[in-house]
Amino acid sequence: MNRPILSATRFSLAPMEGVVDATMRRILTSIAGVDECVTEFLRVTNTTYPEKVFRRICPELANDCRTDSGTPVTLQILGGDPDAMARNALKAVTLGATKIDVNFGCPAKTVNRSDGGAIILREPERVLNILARLRAELPTSVPLSAKMRLGYEDKTLMLENALAAQSAGICKLTIHGRTKREGYKPPADWYSIKQISDLLDIPVVPNGDITSVESFTRCREIVAADEYMVGRGLLANPGLINEIRGFDALSWQQFLPHLFDFQESEMEFGERRHQGNRIKQWLAYLKQHYQEADGFFDEVKRMTNPDDILRAIDTEIVRMGRTAF
Ligand SMILES: Cc1cc2nc3c(=O)[nH]c(=O)nc-3n(C[C@H](O)[C@H](O)[C@H](O)COP(=O)(O)O)c2cc1C
Repeated sequence: MNRPILSATRFSLAPMEGVVDATMRRILTSIAGVDECVTEFLRVTNTTYPEKVFRRICPELANDCRTDSGTPVTLQILGGDPDAMARNALKAVTLGATKIDVNFGCPAKTVNRSDGGAIILREPERVLNILARLRAELPTSVPLSAKMRLGYEDKTLMLENALAAQSAGICKLTIHGRTKREGYKPPADWYSIKQISDLLDIPVVPNGDITSVESFTRCREIVAADEYMVGRGLLANPGLINEIRGFDALSWQQFLPHLFDFQESEMEFGERRHQGNRIKQWLAYLKQHYQEADGFFDEVKRMTNPDDILRAIDTEIVRMGRTAF
């Protein structure tokens, strides 16, 4: 395929609570093409968490905050109390966190009720206070970024929130092009992200609904940026960033060993009866892109024994190998 390779454009893997954990980050970054990734959020209330909590959310702390393939991992925190946020962020840094991101996007009721995530977007001065406090407390060597939606109920405060974040001294702002109210309803509003990007001096990272080379191209036509963030599109097609960069697509056959690796890793911890849940969750994304994943999902969805699932992947690898010759 004759597409220009976008070597200067950077891509980050979107944080996804309950989905993009350390195992998923390791595997997706090993497939390559991702320049940055972010942990699931650490929800900060008024306590300072013990070390084990930071290590659970970000096992990469033990690895210079990088995945095995060397991709930097940013630790994400969420909360409404600047003091507690600063205390926990500083602790994360003493444990080895190299970058901190603040989540102003989470729409979950439980999170918003306890004063964190998208609800803060109703009051831009709180965005400023939280980020300015963090910036003042963290060593200057630690980049501080934020990720936000376009608003809570509506978009009326989107520019104010973005300006507040910028004036707090953050290094970049990722925008998921929806309000909290819109949930995940398509389409993401890339035009509003452009408005924000035109206004700010710091880099703005567009996010939302980049699921294919075509949707990326459309997004880039609307909002030109140095970096884009991709979430569900990368779960469905782990080769997407490489495809965007002009490389060949990742076939189901090429991908299967990664699925085997994932299931093997899942079987290293947790309760046995849960060790097949996450691969089913991932297959539900994969079947949006890979036709072959559809039939395979049907085959494994009723399996409760994690060893059976591992064997099924092995059989699928052999079967696909035979099909190829
Ligand atoms: C299951 C799920 C969990 C998510 N968890 C987080 C999170 O922990 N932190 C965050 O900032 N955004 C979170 N998001 C939002 C994504 O990072 C991203 O903004 C959103 O999915 C839109 O991007 P996409 O269309 O590329 O997936 C989550 C989204 C989903 C679907």
